[in-house]
Amino acid sequence: MTWPLETIWEQVAPSLPGFTVELLPEVDSTNSELMRRARGGRLEPTLLVAERQSAGRGRLGRAWQAEPGASLTFSLGLVLAPTDWSGLSLAVGTAVAGALHPAVQLKWPNDLWVQDRKLGGILIETASTPGGARARFVIIGVGLNVRPRPPNGLSTPPACVQELLPELDAGSSLGLVAPAVADAAKRFEADGFAAFQAAFGQRDALAGRPVRLSDGTAGAAAGVDGHGALVVHTAAGPVAITSSEVSVRPA
Ligand code: BTN
Repeated sequence: MTWPLETIWEQVAPSLPGFTVELLPEVDSTNSELMRRARGGRLEPTLLVAERQSAGRGRLGRAWQAEPGASLTFSLGLVLAPTDWSGLSLAVGTAVAGALHPAVQLKWPNDLWVQDRKLGGILIETASTPGGARARFVIIGVGLNVRPRPPNGLSTPPACVQELLPELDAGSSLGLVAPAVADAAKRFEADGFAAFQAAFGQRDALAGRPVRLSDGTAGAAAGVDGHGALVVHTAAGPVAITSSEVSVRPA
């Protein structure tokens, strides 16, 4: 397998001065590595790709497990100063889905789905910058299943890129997705989630469906608002869900 790192660099560097691309055979987690670097003062825009993660992380403290070659794992770290951070993971998800295939849907707040099965996920973390103020170093971590893999005890086997695009491997998937993520980050900084709201809506896997929140609230998902909050129509009226602690699943 080849990694199109130079092509990605050529596509992204004009809009991200100082941009570097790096491929590691193994690291604990590309997000953790970029976080360590940021704490050491290294804030240049970096795309860090790992062939293997020994301690990949998902949201809410979950693990992200992947065999080398079976999955694509990378993080993009860069300084951003948007006026409002809300909706960034939705914007990134919209960009990843748009770069891949019309059948890729988004499950609020950060999952990529194909026919209600998980294709991938996004883990966004931020660190402060010395300048303080609004600018933060943001680490956008993306994990995508590329090859089919055994369900590993999960009730639903995960989706993978190759069921939609059999010719793609982890390298060519990165070539499609990474420039789109970089582009989305800059567009989000300039225009906020509003610039992505319509595109998210077209891929919203929950829209119109019955959902149940982890606090027991039930209702019908009704899209996202201009800040990326999930709108749920409940018996008591519409509520806007922003907490990442809320788990949402079809009832
Ligand atoms: C989720 O589904 O909860 C998010 C999964 C995010 C996984 C990616 S893989 C690259 C980056 N490094 C990590 O440790 N996690 C993210």
